[in-house]
Amino acid sequence: MIKIHEKEEFEKMRKAGKLAATLLYELGKQTKPGITTLDLDKFAQEFIEKHNTKSACFGYTGGGKTPFPGYICTCVNHVICHAFGTNQVLNEGDIISIDVTLIVDGYHGDTCATFAVGKISNEAQKLIDATKHAMEVGIMAAQPGNHFGDIGYSIEQLMKNKYNNQYSIVEDYCGHGIGTTFHAPPQIEHTGFAGTSEEIKPGMFFTVEPMINAGTHETRLLKDGWTVITKDYRLSAQFEHTIGITENGPEIFTQL
Ligand code: MF3
Ligand code: CO
Ligand code: CO
Repeated sequence: MIKIHEKEEFEKMRKAGKLAATLLYELGKQTKPGITTLDLDKFAQEFIEKHNTKSACFGYTGGGKTPFPGYICTCVNHVICHAFGTNQVLNEGDIISIDVTLIVDGYHGDTCATFAVGKISNEAQKLIDATKHAMEVGIMAAQPGNHFGDIGYSIEQLMKNKYNNQYSIVEDYCGHGIGTTFHAPPQIEHTGFAGTSEEIKPGMFFTVEPMINAGTHETRLLKDGWTVITKDYRLSAQFEHTIGITENGPEIFTQL
């Protein structure tokens, strides 16, 4: 069952989304050589406490895991998703995906972007641009009357036609329904077939959050139980927005 939300709930999602987007923007400005991923996590913790809000990640046990120890996810270079802050220092040329999920008045705003640390290679910048583009076409496919399969299909077509299949799309981790719960049905796959899966309807809230890899799409979970990396250690990027479906199309909640 995919929940259909009321008008008032759109307003709550706008608030949560905007605050998450603000924190992500502030974190993006901190991603300089010399800073550690734990510094970023502490910055997030302070922001969250100052705004009297909550991190959905901190203490999260999704799927029966050990509680997540961080306030945000900070994923450097070949790390795909779900890494927590450590004493790892950011170096010039690194890329870092930062994923923020805040709970404001019971509603979740979930957003991620990949940032450059200092000057990065053309190759890394191209991967970042392609990943942002993938999220954008995925969101544009989220029109009422379309189907969830259209989202993944549009991303796959983009990767084929515009980027000549030079990148791969992660399949082991997906977008998700969201609202008063962090991860609700359905799973939003970033690959797929046009017209398949359930119909997208006004009032649905979900994320589009493609992870795009420079090499293989295959993933490996580290022994810490959370950190997910690319099997070939090549770069991975991610962008994510939380959106709500209106009669006129998708509304992006997680923007400034
Ligand atoms: N924000 C991630 C998502 O997009 C989930 C992070 S869960 C955590 O769904 F526990 F790793 F933080
Ligand atoms: Co998400
Ligand atoms: Co997220």
